[in-house]
Formats: sequence, structure tokens, C-alpha cells
Amino acid sequence: MAQANYVLPFIFGRLSFFLLLSIFLSLPLGHVAEEAGTLSRHCLENPPTLNSSYGAGSVKEIGGLKAYVTGHSHSKRAILLVSDVYGYEAPHLRKIADKVAQSGFYAVVPDFFYGDPFVVNSSTTKEAWLNTHGTDKGFEDAKPVIAALRETGILAVGAAGFCWGGNVVTKLAKTDLIKAAVLLHPSWITLDDIKAVKIPITILAGELDNGTPPKLLEQFESSLSEHKVTNFIKIYPKVKHGWTLRYNDTDATAVKAAEEAHNDMLQWLIKYV
Ligand SMILES: *[C@@H]1O[C@H](CO)[C@@H](O)[C@H](O)[C@H]1NC(C)=O
Ligand SMILES: *[C@@H]1O[C@H](CO)[C@@H](O)[C@H](O)[C@H]1NC(C)=O
Ligand SMILES: *[C@@H]1O[C@H](CO)[C@@H](O)[C@H](O)[C@H]1NC(C)=O
Repeated sequence: MAQANYVLPFIFGRLSFFLLLSIFLSLPLGHVAEEAGTLSRHCLENPPTLNSSYGAGSVKEIGGLKAYVTGHSHSKRAILLVSDVYGYEAPHLRKIADKVAQSGFYAVVPDFFYGDPFVVNSSTTKEAWLNTHGTDKGFEDAKPVIAALRETGILAVGAAGFCWGGNVVTKLAKTDLIKAAVLLHPSWITLDDIKAVKIPITILAGELDNGTPPKLLEQFESSLSEHKVTNFIKIYPKVKHGWTLRYNDTDATAVKAAEEAHNDMLQWLIKYV
């Protein structure tokens, strides 16, 4: 486990801390168990103002999906960024894609929702929306995107997924389609999912995200290490589910916490893709 730059990381060596934390969280954990398969209650907070023209890149079709693409199309390495429920027009996500591109990757943010991201306060409930926008479909749709990238001469593809997208990337991580995976506050990941992961994977999780609580992450790490899968699990103190994308731009602490996770994501991709 690595040390964070600015804050003491909550690493798994600190078992007593986790024991206390999980006892402390036992009430909300029970609540989450009830909600398994639906969105974390922090999933929908601080929704982005979508902007179809945001970012340094452009939108084109790849493998049957529209996608925001940015960076060097002649790069031999591409990164698939899989969105949260708010989709590929979220400015913060495109900003991350532009940052990934600055490291020499071709960054691709597909529209897995076919122009129909989740909209807060619309007539569609989150349950109804999830029924028609499942992560299984997202996984199936990612395959032709990756194939299309390979046809253009890309030799290696990595993937990073946020919330909903973290679930899709976990499915990709069970295959040989990608070289490395990054899960940022992923949704609905089980130990069985993690047992099937085959490629280097990092999980960036929030201390206050009781969708993937520290106790579960500890099991993930044991399983990955037991199966000799290169892994790195980091719990960021005092942040909630969704903090890497839906941070408040004018809150310096929130921006710094998000950027720390973006940098950790990037280091993993640079090292393993
Ligand atoms: C959307 O992004 C474009 C390009 O960055 C910018 O010029 C425009 O002001 C943005 N629109 C809104 C509503 O923020
Ligand atoms: C959604 O509705 C709730 C309750 O009326 C309100 O508090 C919230 O600000 C609304 N959110 C958005 C993004 O419009
Ligand atoms: C964002 O942060 C600023 C500064 O901390 C605060 O004044 C503002 O209310 C926050 N906005 C939201 C939507 O939380």
C-alpha cells in the first residue's frame, strides 16, 4: 500500500481502526444491504450540468456508440473511461479524459446511455432508469468499442470506471480485453466479481462510501492477493461515494481530494497499460 501525498492513508494494516469503523457503520451498512442493486444514496448528489461541447476533444462514433474522444489518435495506447449515471457529457468527466490524454493516451468516453443519461427530478425514477440502463448492456457495448480501437492500431487498452462505470469495468477486468482497470467508487461490486478479476486492478474508494465499505474492500484485497492479481486498494479519508466526479468546483478541499484520486488513477494506467 502506498502513502498518500497529503494525508495519512487509511491502510489495511490498521485493522483495529476498521473494526471500530465497521461497528460504527453497522447501521448504514444494513440500510445499504437493503438497497443492493440500486444506487448508493450519494450517487445522485451534486449532479453535473451537462455540456455537449465541453472539452478539448470531439465527439465521434466508435464501435457503434457515440464517444467523446481526446488526445493522440496515433497513440498505441487507449483508455476507456466509463461514466457514472450522468453520462459522457459531464464536464468533470471530460476534464479527466483530457488529463488522461495529456499523458499520451487516446482517451475515449462512450455514451453508454444512447443519449438518455439519468436526469435528477425527471419523471423516471432511478429504479426504472436502471432497469433499462444495466451494466450488463454496458459491458456488451464496450466490446465493439474496444475492437474498433484495436482496428485503428491501438495495441493496449486500459479502462477506468466511475460508480455505474466501475461496475462495467469490473466485468471487463474479468476478460483479456483490457490490460489494466481502475475502479473509482464502484457500485454493486461483490467478492465473487473480484475473485474473477484477471488483470492489474486498483480500487479507489471513499471512507464514507458505505456501498463499498472498508470491511468489504479488505476482503477484495485478500482475494486479489491470494489469486496473485496485481492490485492496489486505497481508501481516501473523509470522502463520499462520487467524490472524484461530483465535487464542488469552488470547494478547494473537495477539488484536492478529487485530483489526488485522478492522479492515482493516472499513475496506475501509465504503469500497467
Ligand atoms: C460548454 O462548454 C463550452 C466549451 O468549453 C463552453 O464554451 C460553454 O460556455 C459551456 N457551456 C456551459 C453552459 O457551461
Ligand atoms: C430535485 O428536487 C429536490 C426536491 O424538490 C430539490 O431539493 C433538488 O434541488 C432538485 N435537484 C435538482 C438537481 O433539480
Ligand atoms: C460549494 O462550495 C462553496 C465553498 O465551500 C460553498 O459556498 C457552496 O455552497 C458549495 N456548493 C454546493 C452546491 O455545495
